[in-house]
Amino acid sequence: MSSAPRYTPYRPRRLRTTARMRRLVAETRLHPADLVLPLFVKEGLDEPHPISSMPGVVQHTLDTLPDAVRAAAVAGIGGVMLFGIPTERDATGSQADAEDGILNRAITIARDAARSPDLRSDERPGPVVMADTCLDEFTDHGHCGVLTPPGPDGLTRVDNDATLERYTAMALTQADAGAEVVAPSGMMDGQVAAIRDALDDAGHHDVSILAYSAKYASAFYGPFREAVDSTLSGDRRTYQMDAANAREGLREADLDLAEGADMVMVKPAGSSLDVLAAVAERSDVPVAAYQVSGEYAMIEAAAAQGWIDRRGAVLESVLGIKRAGADIILTYWALDIAEWIS
Ligand code: PBG
Repeated sequence: MSSAPRYTPYRPRRLRTTARMRRLVAETRLHPADLVLPLFVKEGLDEPHPISSMPGVVQHTLDTLPDAVRAAAVAGIGGVMLFGIPTERDATGSQADAEDGILNRAITIARDAARSPDLRSDERPGPVVMADTCLDEFTDHGHCGVLTPPGPDGLTRVDNDATLERYTAMALTQADAGAEVVAPSGMMDGQVAAIRDALDDAGHHDVSILAYSAKYASAFYGPFREAVDSTLSGDRRTYQMDAANAREGLREADLDLAEGADMVMVKPAGSSLDVLAAVAERSDVPVAAYQVSGEYAMIEAAAAQGWIDRRGAVLESVLGIKRAGADIILTYWALDIAEWIS
C-alpha cells in the first residue's frame, strides 16, 4: 500500500532530477558552428583599439585580423562578419567599393586566414567569411545610403534606388575580394534582388546573400556606433523598422525570400524573439539572429558590477535566441561560448 499521498501523477520534475538527465532531455544545444563572430577592422591603426562600451571587443588592424580569424577557426566558429572603418568618408561612401578600401582588404586577408591549411580539419574547416554590405561606416553623414538633395521642405532623405546602385557596387567588390557571404544591412527596398542580379551578372553565382530582413531601429545598437566611429546624428527610422511592428517584419522576410535571399536575419535578437520565431516558422532558408552590441554591453556591465553571473547570463541569452528559432547566431561572445561548451 502506498503511504505517500498522491496529489498528481504528472511530475515533469522527474526529468530534472540530475544533471545527466537534464542533459539527456535538453531540447536545444549550442554548437560553435552555429555562431558567427563580428569583427571590426579599422584603417590607420597601429595596434588594436579597445571599444570602451564593449569590454573585450576591439577594433582590429589588418595585421591583427588574421589571428582573430584563426582563433575563430580553432574554436570551430561557423563564420566571421567583417565591418570596416575607413579613414576617409564622403557623401557616397566611396571607400566601400574601392578595391583597396579597408573592408575589402580585410575580406581578402580574412579569407586567406580562414583557409590556412594548418588550421583546417574536417570538423573545423574554418569560418565562412561574411561582409557587411552597408554604407554607414563609409559615408560622412553616417547614413546607410546616399542622400537626396534637400527637398522643398529643406530636408534630405536616404535615396533608396540610388543607394541600391552603391550596394551593388559594394557587393561586387566584396565578392571580388573573396567574401563568401554578403550581408546587406541597410534596409533599402529591393536590396536583395539588386545585389543578386549584380552578382549573377558578374558570374558570382556562388556568393550567398545573408539578408538583414527584419532589422529594427534600435537603441541596442548604441555601442556599435562607438565600434565603427559613427558620425550619424539623428536616427535611421525612415529605413529601419519600428519596434512596434511584427507583421511588417514577416513581410520584409517574405520579400527578401522572394528576392532570392539565401539566409534571412532578425535583429536585434533579444527584443525580437517573437518575430524570430515567426520568421523561422515560415522560412525555408536558414534564419540568423544578431545579438547586438547593446545586448552585449548590458550583460558585460552588470557582470562587471557583480550583479549577474556572466557565463550563466550569456549562455542563457544565446540559448533563448536559439530556442526561438535561430539557426545561426551572430554574437560578440562567440569565442567565449565556444570555449564554455566544448
Ligand atoms: C549597419 C549596422 C548596424 C549594426 C550592424 N550593421 C548599426 C545600425 O544599423 O545602426 C549594429 C550591430 C550591433 O549593434 O551590434 N551597417
